[in-house]
Amino acid sequence: MTRIPLISGNWKMNLNHFEAIQLVQKLSYELRNHDYDAVEVSVHPPFTDLRSVQTVIDADRMLFHLGAQNCHAEDSGAFTGEVSPAMLGKMDVTFVIVGHSERRALFGETNEVVAAKAAAVATHGMTPIVCVGETLEERESGDAQVIVEAQVRGSLSSLSGDQLAEVIVAYEPVWAIGTGVTASADDAQLMCAHIRSVIASVRKSAADKVRIQYGGSVNAANAAELMSMSDIDGALVGGASLEAASFARIVNFKDA
Ligand code: 13P
Repeated sequence: MTRIPLISGNWKMNLNHFEAIQLVQKLSYELRNHDYDAVEVSVHPPFTDLRSVQTVIDADRMLFHLGAQNCHAEDSGAFTGEVSPAMLGKMDVTFVIVGHSERRALFGETNEVVAAKAAAVATHGMTPIVCVGETLEERESGDAQVIVEAQVRGSLSSLSGDQLAEVIVAYEPVWAIGTGVTASADDAQLMCAHIRSVIASVRKSAADKVRIQYGGSVNAANAAELMSMSDIDGALVGGASLEAASFARIVNFKDA
């Protein structure tokens, strides 16, 4: 089974819509058409930038996908300040990150909430990027695999069998996010293989298809080694995605 790697840039709460347009334009200069032969690429700007970025991608026929960082599970209603998957679908959004560790830790998102969001995203024809990952305390106490397994089972529990095969899981150990400390390629591979085996226990036929990204201080220097691992099918990149040249070098990890 060949799984096409997906390199995603999670911009988090950075860049206004003017800066966002500049970044995607710079990125499109950095990347050549053949760079997309063997990878898929997505950018995930803040909500206020989405429409501007969508327009530029469309007008200039850029080859990367538009993504969002979050959404609500409901289509519409009295949820002040929220954005629905139906709205994102209308903006040609392809991928929606759900359950990022920052949302779990800072905004109280549980596995149940994440499961509802993932199912809503899939129902609207987009692909959820479902994030899981242990904290440093959980890793040091030897519980990392158990914690991540519970997150995977809980967060994917509302997807149909067909939706499960299309999902993307991002393994992002919390201690590696924004710290400059990356999981070793071997440790990342071990956890990603574990995630795949958990998915296989739910639906065997889905496990080979599901793409599993690694995230946490990915940069141009470590991307190639991480991506060479058999169960790592891409990267979810934070800080290094805010600079066109460094993100482009990660997209072109095969040339490193
Ligand atoms: P960094 O690449 O900045 O560590 O962030 C990772 C992340 O949280 C991507 O979602």
